[in-house]
Amino acid sequence: MGHHNCASVKHAAFGSLRLIGALALSFVVTLAINTPLHAQAACPFNTRTNDATDRASPTVDGQLFARFARGMRDAALVGRLSRSVPAPDADSVVEHIEGNVTALDIDGDGEFTTIDGLVIARYLSGFRGTALTSGLPTMAANASRKTSAAISDFIAKGCVADAPLLPIEVIGPDGYTETISVSVGNASDINRLWLQCHRCGWRDGSIQAGRNRGAKGSVRVNGGSWIDLTDDVATVSEPEKAYGGISGGFFTTRFTVPVGGVVKGKNTIEFRFNKTDGHTSGYRILNVNFLRSDGQRALGKYATLQDDPTKWKPQPSSTTNPQINVDIAAGRALWNGSVPLRESPLSPKILKASCASCHAADGRDLKYFNYSDWSIGQRAEFHGLTTKQGKQLAAYIRNLNVLAPKQAAPWNPPYQPGPGLDDKPVLEWSAGAGLAAVLEHDQESLKYLFPNADGSAADLSVASIAETINIKKTLNVREIPVAVQLPDWNEWLATEHPAELWDSARVQPLLDSYTTARNALVSGGAAILIAEKKLDAMMETFRDAVNEFQGLGGPQPCPRFYSGDIASPAKRATMEALPTDKTCEDGMQAINRWFSVKMWELNNQFVLEEAPAQTYRYGEARGWVGATHQVFWAAAHRSSDDSQKFRYQSVALGKFHSMTWYHVQMVVNAGHRANSRFVPQDWFYTPNHIMEASVKNGTANKRPPIASIAIMSQLKMYQNLDRTGPDGLGTDKQSEWWLPFVTPRMIESYADSGAILGQPWVALDDYESGLRAKVTNEFLRVFLKKQKTYPISSLPRRSNPGPNGDDDYEDIDYVPTAYTGGGCYYTCPGQARHADNIYRLIPRLKALGVDSALVNELIDWSKAVWPAGTWDSLR
Ligand code: HEC
Repeated sequence: MGHHNCASVKHAAFGSLRLIGALALSFVVTLAINTPLHAQAACPFNTRTNDATDRASPTVDGQLFARFARGMRDAALVGRLSRSVPAPDADSVVEHIEGNVTALDIDGDGEFTTIDGLVIARYLSGFRGTALTSGLPTMAANASRKTSAAISDFIAKGCVADAPLLPIEVIGPDGYTETISVSVGNASDINRLWLQCHRCGWRDGSIQAGRNRGAKGSVRVNGGSWIDLTDDVATVSEPEKAYGGISGGFFTTRFTVPVGGVVKGKNTIEFRFNKTDGHTSGYRILNVNFLRSDGQRALGKYATLQDDPTKWKPQPSSTTNPQINVDIAAGRALWNGSVPLRESPLSPKILKASCASCHAADGRDLKYFNYSDWSIGQRAEFHGLTTKQGKQLAAYIRNLNVLAPKQAAPWNPPYQPGPGLDDKPVLEWSAGAGLAAVLEHDQESLKYLFPNADGSAADLSVASIAETINIKKTLNVREIPVAVQLPDWNEWLATEHPAELWDSARVQPLLDSYTTARNALVSGGAAILIAEKKLDAMMETFRDAVNEFQGLGGPQPCPRFYSGDIASPAKRATMEALPTDKTCEDGMQAINRWFSVKMWELNNQFVLEEAPAQTYRYGEARGWVGATHQVFWAAAHRSSDDSQKFRYQSVALGKFHSMTWYHVQMVVNAGHRANSRFVPQDWFYTPNHIMEASVKNGTANKRPPIASIAIMSQLKMYQNLDRTGPDGLGTDKQSEWWLPFVTPRMIESYADSGAILGQPWVALDDYESGLRAKVTNEFLRVFLKKQKTYPISSLPRRSNPGPNGDDDYEDIDYVPTAYTGGGCYYTCPGQARHADNIYRLIPRLKALGVDSALVNELIDWSKAVWPAGTWDSLR
């Protein structure tokens, strides 16, 4: 079966339903990062607004089409039209028609000709039926709509019949190809193809790994030679490029590749999935365009059509015997393991796991995130099932009584922050705000962090910054968009189920803990558990079983385990029982991804995401309950063998992903001012991930600044460690206001070494001169105010501060030292000397232009804490 058949089979099965749906409503779907597509409800006959829903005029637009078709351009095209409208812009009229030939090509011959212009002009003047076509010149032999019936039908359905449906799912067996056809009105100077692609890179990314393995996808135009979609061939957009390119930190990337041979009229574009790596089944093209040498796009927004998943319905597995209920039941059985699965096309190993084990138990994740029937079917075949079984699985999933928000998609990262999310129903929250909410640049976050009165722009005045950097408020990170893509749902999923790796005696309690949690929610009822404040404890019990494994490796799991200084012999024995080709990180990833997926499942199925407000005194409006680590264990920092990156990643990529997982954790649960120091967020490591994700090892390999994310984390930490709460009535815990977390040194630099000192804050002054000092002022104010609620005499002291992170305040007679050159400006990791750090911080604060009254207050406080120091010399 050729790829073309595959494509038409696929679209024939589901296309008609989607199409009717798309036409029934007038709606707008925003998909691309910066090129919103509009599912059209009407033909784009208004040449002036480029908006199909606007009324087109017979005297203006009808004329323009007819004139354009006759070859008139510039003044001849737009002059002397109706007196009631201003003369349209000739260039944009031309662009509209040439870019949207797929929709305007009424007779379907691939070009916009006088026939098309005439029919549209007649249609706009009210002609219908045979009056549309009578007396027209002879149509081209290759025209696909020659009768008035066919033409009327095409127009009535919004002129979308020939438009390729996006996304193009290039998902299937090795070599699977999808073909689309687009009509180009003007092919001159077209030399690049622009694509937006979900998962064109390898899962086990890093540019080098991708290069070694070759291209996952390839493309060709009009049967020309295949072009590899790799970082070597493609020109990748920023910031995706800076984060590692096609196999980098962003799972959806935009790039161009050079193409030749694009012609006026119909062009075919073929996308090929070259081969699986044992993880992937392909990729999705979310958006496509041709570019001219000056960068102009050749295709308009009506050249393609956006699919609408809200219209998807369960499809029978067979047209001859459409017993949909039989299919659904068979699909349910398959989902739960009625037929054993193979691992992948590359590995015949029979899995212990069923679909239900790795995904949400009932498959709700696939329904919720709008995975298509096609992708479910292909994934079933990936695991060795038949095409029919794949369709049955798809019918089962589609029939689930589970909300599938319109904005949920495999490429839209779960919980991606964006304005307005809290106003949507709680069950829509995890769909996130979509790729459209991923900012192009970190600086744009400022508008949301420090909004002006009507929220239309950033207000970077002192008052406005102080309004936000306020320990008594609760920063809503759910609604502050960021300039990074968070992990997509595929990334949440575990490539190996815990039961495949760990010995069953040990893993069974872990799996049972999940069943226990589920049963408690089913039998106890989520509402009762919440009302009785038992949800928190229940979630912790679930988590404890996971901790049992994480304890295997100690606080820095894998490396310390191997060095043997933490793990007990029994734990080591368990670790050594892993299959010989697996290491600690495989086992940790399996457990932690599985746990995160199951956490999402419980939160979704039992609608738990509004529980924090009832569970904790200062619970946020939305979030996960649990005084425990949750998703951030998916980070390489927690789960990898070397605590920086997974084996297959570069350090840069590992750090970036650690940062994004920590951000997801902060979004779903930053602690609700209730949890202990290290959980759910281990604030200590966040700065390091943020710094390393944005700048790595000096000025080489520079990546975009993410100072806004640093502000959010720093502030969220201060707020969560202030257990007295916004109303001051909570029970404070001095031990939670822990100096290694809250030390003001962090508001000046997350870095120690000279070359990159000031990271990640330096970017603030690029955003606006003086902004860094203003932000630092407010953080310093917050620190001092809170810090000074603790009497000096109550501070925990230690004569010999221990290794990084474990220490308290140095003894009262400690004499801080100035920087004397060498590697670390602030004390090097492993020798956290708070007094030294603050002593060295002060000159830098002064140089930054921080408020001198605040600096003096810091000096006064420091002098009181460590009176032996020469603090006055710093004034
Ligand atoms: C061992 C765990 C595991 C099992 C068992 C499993 N999956 Fe998955 N599934 C994953 C992972 C991991 C991914 C993400 C793969 C990637 O990164 O491309 C995934 C991805 C998917 C996707 C999305 C593919 C895409 O990008 O469109 C679908 C659909 C899917 N699985 C369906 C199923 C079905 C149906 C079954 C049972 C027949 C199943 N899975 C069994 C782990 C599993």
